[in-house]
Amino acid sequence: MKHRAFITGITGQDGSYLAEYLVGKGYEVFGLVRRTSLDPLMRLDGVMKTGKVKLLYGNLRDAGSLARALKESDPHEIYNLGAQSDVGLSFKIPEETMDVNYFGLGRLIYEAIRINKSVRIFHASTGDMFLRANPPQNETSVFVPTSPYGESKLRAYEDLVKGFRERQHVFISSGIMFNHESPRRGEHFVTRKISRAMAKIKLGLLKSFSLGNLDAHRDWGYAGDYVKAMHLMLQAKTPSDYVIGTGEVNSVRTFVEAAARELDMELVWKGSGMKEVAQWKGETILTINKEFYRPPEADYMLADISKARRELGWKPKVDFQGLVSMMVQADYESLKQVR
Ligand code: NAP
Ligand code: GDD
Repeated sequence: MKHRAFITGITGQDGSYLAEYLVGKGYEVFGLVRRTSLDPLMRLDGVMKTGKVKLLYGNLRDAGSLARALKESDPHEIYNLGAQSDVGLSFKIPEETMDVNYFGLGRLIYEAIRINKSVRIFHASTGDMFLRANPPQNETSVFVPTSPYGESKLRAYEDLVKGFRERQHVFISSGIMFNHESPRRGEHFVTRKISRAMAKIKLGLLKSFSLGNLDAHRDWGYAGDYVKAMHLMLQAKTPSDYVIGTGEVNSVRTFVEAAARELDMELVWKGSGMKEVAQWKGETILTINKEFYRPPEADYMLADISKARRELGWKPKVDFQGLVSMMVQADYESLKQVR
């Protein structure tokens, strides 16, 4: 029998890679799309051509729409990737963030188990739930979120993922995922912002750009690797939670430097603090703008992925330099066409 998977957030970065991965494994895939999605097919161009993906309209804020989509798809596996996923924006729209990321998961689980109590559910948790000063973080580390986004994900994890699993024996697992990126990453996230801006500068399409905290540290991996971990979690005998990352930490500054190397641009840093700049061929191409600083910040994230390695046999394939190279080259090649 064909396996059916239902994905919320299919139009996002992870959703698009997951849809491709599951279609490759022979699944029939159903994806929830919002009427407001600007271009639901933008990242799904390739996989839609297989004819194995069906898009259903709905919204995590609307229980009735979830019920209809779940009835129509009747999935064996549900992947909840839909979220207001922008941490900076969550300080500006905290209620919407909580409604989608926390109550949205509640609506989804409730409607899903009314239809099929033994459905398997994956939920996208985040490394942003952790206390910033305690790296490396694993499944037993202390959770202290530093943003409305982190707060919404922590409540979803503690009340709903653990609550439904422990009290109602629902098969629900979560990936406590650290930052993962790709050429499909949204342009407002820092890695893609850097890869695009640096490629544009190299091509003469942009003179300079601004960033916030250059010394924020993240554990950056490749989204294509992380969707495999999601799938493995739902094939396991029992549901559980797994930290997913690479175990390597880099700063925003290191990402800029790696992107410059990839484009054969020799950078010179000058000044310090808010007055620091990066120059290339004597011209300032990067300045600091406090607009891009976060209020409180989780600034040192490093995943300890021992449990995922041990229990799922999962490990990432793409390393930091491979990721930077993939993103910068993809932006450079596509921007070259518009020059
Ligand atoms: P993304 O590219 O921002 O995609 C978010 C998806 O959620 C989009 O498809 C979006 O649809 C959908 N969505 C937003 N609001 C919705 C609503 N009210 N109802 C239904 N769908 C809604 O995010 P991503 O990077 O792929 O991340 C996937 C998941 O992993 C998210 O839950 C995120 O919080 C979590 N996560 C990501 C990372 C990371 O580094 N990427 C790390 C840890 C956890 P539209 O196209 O309509 O906007
Ligand atoms: N976006 C952005 N823009 N971030 C900047 C900038 C800038 O101009 N300058 C510095 N940063 C710093 C942020 O302050 C943060 O410390 C770091 O770069 C990464 O920012 P983002 O790329 O926006 O990602 P994030 O870590 O806040 O959130 C992402 O990863 C989480 C997992 O740790 C999102 O994908 C979340 O959904 C995810 O849960």
